Formats: sequence, C-alpha cells, structure tokens
Amino acid sequence: MNKLIKFLTPPIAAAIFGYGVGLFYDLKPLLLSGSLAFVTLLYCILLSRAPGKPQEKGIIKNVLMKLPVVIVLSIIVWFVAGHFGFPVWWQIEFVAFTFVGLVFFVVLDLRTMAPEKTATRTSVRLLGTYGLASVLFITITAQLPQFDPQVELDKLNKPPVKLSGLAGPEVIAAGRRVFEDNKCFNCHKVFWEGNSDRGPNLGTKQIGLFNEDYLKEQIVDPRKIQSPGFDDPKSYKAMPTYYGEDLSEDELNALVSYLKTMRDPTNIPVEGKLGEQWTWYDDPKIIEEGKLVYEGKEPAVEGLNCSVCHGTDGIPLMTGALDFRNANNKDSEKFDAAERSDKTLKDWPDALWYKRVTQGVPGTPMAAWGTMFPHLYLWKAIAYERTFHDPLDQRASKVPVPPIPTEEEIKRWKDEGLFMDPLL
Ligand code: HEC
Ligand code: HEC
Repeated sequence: MNKLIKFLTPPIAAAIFGYGVGLFYDLKPLLLSGSLAFVTLLYCILLSRAPGKPQEKGIIKNVLMKLPVVIVLSIIVWFVAGHFGFPVWWQIEFVAFTFVGLVFFVVLDLRTMAPEKTATRTSVRLLGTYGLASVLFITITAQLPQFDPQVELDKLNKPPVKLSGLAGPEVIAAGRRVFEDNKCFNCHKVFWEGNSDRGPNLGTKQIGLFNEDYLKEQIVDPRKIQSPGFDDPKSYKAMPTYYGEDLSEDELNALVSYLKTMRDPTNIPVEGKLGEQWTWYDDPKIIEEGKLVYEGKEPAVEGLNCSVCHGTDGIPLMTGALDFRNANNKDSEKFDAAERSDKTLKDWPDALWYKRVTQGVPGTPMAAWGTMFPHLYLWKAIAYERTFHDPLDQRASKVPVPPIPTEEEIKRWKDEGLFMDPLL
C-alpha cells in the first residue's frame, strides 16, 4: 500500500502542477495535466524496474534502441497537437523537441570515457563538447522560422490602407489584408481558414449578414455586446479593445467590407463555441425575432410582412400561398422539372428555403424579397416559419450543425450565382 502511494505521488503531483499551469496560461488545463501525469507515470514505471546488470552499448545500438520510441512519440505528439488546433509551426517544434530528447538520452547512455591524463586534454575535450553543442543548436534553430527585424519594420511602415480610388473587390481585398495584419485569424476562423476557435467562426456565423454599424461596434467596443455562446468570463475578455485606436477610418471601412462577404447561401447561420454550437433553427431568441419579421413588426424591415399572405397562425390568407403547417407540402408547381425540388417541406434543405424566400416564385405575389430587404431578417423569418410544422417545444433533438463549407464549395456558390447582391 505504502509502496503504491509512493509510486503514485509523482504522477499526481504532475497532474496538479499541469492543471495549475494550464489554468494560469489559459492552455487546456485537463489536457496539459493528463499528458504530464502520463509522462511522469511512464518514467516511474521505467525507473521502478529492477536494475539489470549495467551493460554499455555502442552508439549505433544506442540510437537503434531509442529511435523507434521517439518516432512513435513524434507521431503521437504531431497528431495530438494538430487535434488541439496548434498551428503547423508549433507542431514541427514539438516534434523537433522530441528529437532533442533522443539526442539527450543517447548522450546519457554513451560509453564512459577513459579518464583524461593531462589538464590540456581535459580542456580540449570540454571545449570540443561545448563547440559541438553550439554548432548543433545553431544549425537546428536556424531551420526554424526567424524573427526578421526588417520584415517587422516593413509591416509597421507599410502604407496604411487608403480607400480613395479603390473599387468593390479591391476594397474587400484591402479589408482582408487588414484582417490578416491585425491577427484576427488567431482567434477567428472564416469558414475553413484560420488558426483557432477562441472566438466565433465568422464564416459559419455569417457575420456578413449584420449591418455595418453593428460590425464596427463589435470591433471597436467588443465588450458591449457578447457573441451568443461566448459569455463566459474568459471569452468575454478575449477580444482586444485596442482596434478602435489602431485602425484608421479607411482600414475599419475596408475591414467591414471584407466581413460583409462572409455569408453562406446554403446553410442557416450557426452560433456558439466549437463543440457547443447550434443553428438558428434552435435559437429561441432568433425565432422570437423571426416572428416579428414574419408578422411585419420589425421596424428595420418596414414593409415586409409574410403574415398578410401566409397568415399569422400559418393558415394562408391568400389562396395559393404555401401552408407552412403541413410538413408534407411540396415546392411550387410554377417551377419546371429542372428547377423544382421533389422534397417535402420537412426535408427542404436550407439552400432551397433561402433561394425561394430571397428570389421568390416568379409570376406570383411571392416576390423576390431578397432584392428588397436585408437577408439577415429573411433567415430569421425562415427559422420562425419552420416552427409551424416543427414546433420548438416538441423537438426531440436539435437540428444538426452543418459541416463547415470547404474552399471548393464556396467557389461553387460564386460560380453558380447562388449569391444575390453580395453586399445585401
Ligand atoms: C484574442 C482573440 C481575438 C482576436 C485577436 C480578435 N477577436 Fe474578435 N472576438 C473574440 C471573441 C472571444 C469574441 C466573442 C466574445 C465577444 O463577443 O466579445 C469575438 C467577437 C468578435 C465579433 C462579434 C461576433 C458576433 O457574434 O457578433 C466580431 C465581429 C469580431 N470578433 C471581429 C474581430 C476582428 C475583425 C478582429 C481583428 C481586427 C478580431 N475580432 C480579433 C476574440 C478575438
Ligand atoms: C403578397 C403575398 C405574400 C407575401 C407577403 C409572402 N408570400 Fe410567400 N408565398 C406567397 C404565395 C402566393 C406563394 C405561393 C407561390 C406559388 O407557388 O404559386 C408563396 C410561397 C412561399 C414559399 C414557398 C415557395 C415554393 O417554392 O413553393 C415560401 C418558402 C414563402 N412563400 C415564404 C415567405 C416568406 C418567408 C415571406 C416573408 C418574408 C413571404 N413568403 C411573404 C405569397 C406571399
């Protein structure tokens, strides 16, 4: 029993230490604690083996014995680091570090050297070792990404973004540069691109649906309105508050033009932190706002009122208007076979809802609302419409969060003209 306690003390101490460090540096406490405990436990097991008769091995044998372990460890380290979203350079450095371990352990196990006979030879050997270590160190570190003062200076002195004379796509490109230069990618993904998920994925959230004033406010004064699902104390303080001072008027405008492109005509917006996300279909607040839009009570979209034709309770007031209460209703017969979907209402993909509501049914009173009103409100109305045949309080499970669109899919949206006015 006593032995067991002695045996387990170091790993437990390591676990507690790892957890503390993780908490302090905001670095996945559980993961850090677990890995430290694991490594310590491994050492304890190795050390507790009865010492065999010490036997010295030559350097080749030495390396051959340790290399397989290090290779397996490197592979594990690579994938674990990748899984937890470390940038590729960090992954490379972690693996390099495992190989430094190889050198360390090989050196430890080298044959004992014969004692030196003279002071001069001792000094030569000492200096030689030091020299060799230095050369190794410099050669390895030179391969890693360098801090180049000139590059950093150039960045600082780079002419600020000036908008005068730039047209649409150029402004968006300038805005993307502002996004990159200000390290927004360090916390925000934009669809598949970016380094971490500390903040919302601005692509799947479809931040481009929101109006310019809202976007500017979120950048300049991020503590004012918290992004849904990011109201824990850590996320609350994460987004820097200095952008208002750092960004010029032109830079902020360009940045907003870039953010406005972040939309998805094939999926409803997704909210929340990675792992705890939900779609607008399951968001009671959005559905409440969608109800206002549907019933013509949203001041931001004056003149838009779905209920005058589709009925406040879903019973159509206009003959021919789609009845949202019947989950088995089908797509309009006004479309020819190629255009028409054969799915029933309950299986309509988001892309179809969006297309019908933004582009309408030509030749009927169902107008192309997307050419007149901001799409933010149309998505909200879609989230509400769904509740007529799929009431929120009777759902057994949440609507699955769609996979993040890939680069190829996004290109397809543009090629196939799924977007209407890119800035609506
Ligand atoms: C250190 C991490 C970090 C950096 C860097 C960062 N953000 Fe954020 N950002 C967050 C977090 C966390 C949130 C969610 C909490 C909140 O709303 O403040 C957020 C929220 C936002 C929102 C609001 C999203 C919503 O749901 O309304 C916008 C817009 C935004 N960031 C844009 C930017 C832009 C643009 C940059 C670069 C100029 C940037 N962020 C840099 C962490 C960061
Ligand atoms: C002026 C009346 C009117 C208004 C306002 C109206 N609709 Fe319609 N809607 C119709 C009619 C009529 C149809 C049926 C068209 C057809 O198939 O002939 C229809 C059909 C639809 C369809 C089904 C399209 C299809 O492919 O069958 C959807 C979805 C829809 N409306 C959503 C909305 C939403 C959301 C709003 C509010 C933003 C809205 N409608 C506002 C009249 C209206």
